[in-house]
Amino acid sequence: MRKAGTEITLKRLAILGSTGSIGTSTLSIVEQFPERYGVATLAAGRNVDVAFEQAVRWRPRVVSLATEELASQLAARLKVAGVNGIEVVFGAAGTVACSTHPEVDFVVSAIVGVAGLEATHAAILAGKPIGLANKECMVAAGEILTAAACEHKVPILPIDSEHNAVHQCLRVGAHSEVKFIWLTASGGPFRRLPLEQFASITPEQALKHPTWVMGRRITIDSASMLNKGLEIIEACRLFDVSASQVRVTVHPQSTVHSLVEYVDGSILAQISVTDMRLPILYALAYPERPSSNLTFDLAALSHLDFEQPDFERFPCLRLAYEAAEKGGAHCIALNAADEVAVEAFLDRRILFTGIPRTIEAVLAATPEAHPDTIAGVLAADREARETARSVIAAAALRVHA
Ligand SMILES: NC(=O)c1ccc[n+]([C@@H]2O[C@H](COP(=O)([O-])OP(=O)(O)OC[C@H]3O[C@@H](n4cnc5c(N)ncnc54)[C@H](OP(=O)(O)O)[C@@H]3O)[C@@H](O)[C@H]2O)c1
Repeated sequence: MRKAGTEITLKRLAILGSTGSIGTSTLSIVEQFPERYGVATLAAGRNVDVAFEQAVRWRPRVVSLATEELASQLAARLKVAGVNGIEVVFGAAGTVACSTHPEVDFVVSAIVGVAGLEATHAAILAGKPIGLANKECMVAAGEILTAAACEHKVPILPIDSEHNAVHQCLRVGAHSEVKFIWLTASGGPFRRLPLEQFASITPEQALKHPTWVMGRRITIDSASMLNKGLEIIEACRLFDVSASQVRVTVHPQSTVHSLVEYVDGSILAQISVTDMRLPILYALAYPERPSSNLTFDLAALSHLDFEQPDFERFPCLRLAYEAAEKGGAHCIALNAADEVAVEAFLDRRILFTGIPRTIEAVLAATPEAHPDTIAGVLAADREARETARSVIAAAALRVHA
């Protein structure tokens, strides 16, 4: 229920990563709340078919695709379909055009990897509030993004379900009263798998997440628990806490999305359905809470388990804590090395256990540095990727020898 006299104003969205899992969930929220949300711009990568359908359905002002060739294909298809008035652009500049378009009131940042970084940064500089799903850009450039958000008084509202839960739990206490942030982790599909079988894990097995349906990289990252590692760094940056204040608890039901422990001993938790539409709606509507059909059946809740994470089985967690302590280039390298390693694992060029090995080798080769511009971050990212590729080439030779 709204207070008498308060009116809903339409928020026009830029959806960066519109063809992905978070992007399509965001569009389903727009579909459900047409009086609240509209689509101003859409940015995608390579999926011309879905981008075409979305452009026809939502008639945005601008659509961006990853390359000029893909953008030409989309423009040609829109012309044949008689759809006019949509500007089709491409590349990093195209994504920036989407995120900074004058008609955009709110940006959903949901491109996978650092490809979304420049557009997210540009949106903050343009004063656009951000709903942040793209954790990799917070890991790689969190110091720059949060400083810019502070300077331009731009809210960054987390869409990642754990950080969204923390954001909700933090609304009841002061920053100085926070003792620990507890991020919950499902533990992925290999929580109980004997350690000696990790080397034989296949991409098909790793792509089967027990509780969430997500994009390929984040699904593999959940299986290796590097995803939780990225979230530790994301939490430090979003909530201005040290890495030692961020703890992980394995909670296989994925019902409690995260918790905040206060200095007086109270622990606040957020519970809801395992459905990303809820954190997306929260970010879009904040500080309001629109009524939704995303209800959770408390009666169906029989038990909640919480366990200590196993650092031996999941070395990515240790690597992430080490990177979080060092910050700067080490966080950039952690993310970049993982992205390259996940791709190599999906292409069967390295084993599942090769993912943490690659990251460890790249981190060891990374000099301590704190790039303070987006260009500097992207340069450090490229360097870490090069190192990761060399490490993998050597590892792959060993595997096939
Ligand atoms: N899915 C979840 O439940 C979830 C939860 C928490 C956080 N996140 C985070 O949200 C982000 C997106 O995850 P997702 O699961 O939605 O991934 P996804 O399904 O793989 O979607 C990724 C999106 O990024 C686009 N993209 C990739 N490269 C691009 C480029 N160079 N330029 C422009 N767009 C590009 C893709 O476009 P095409 O498909 O057209 O190539 C797609 O729209 C990630 O950072 C992830 O960690 C996701």
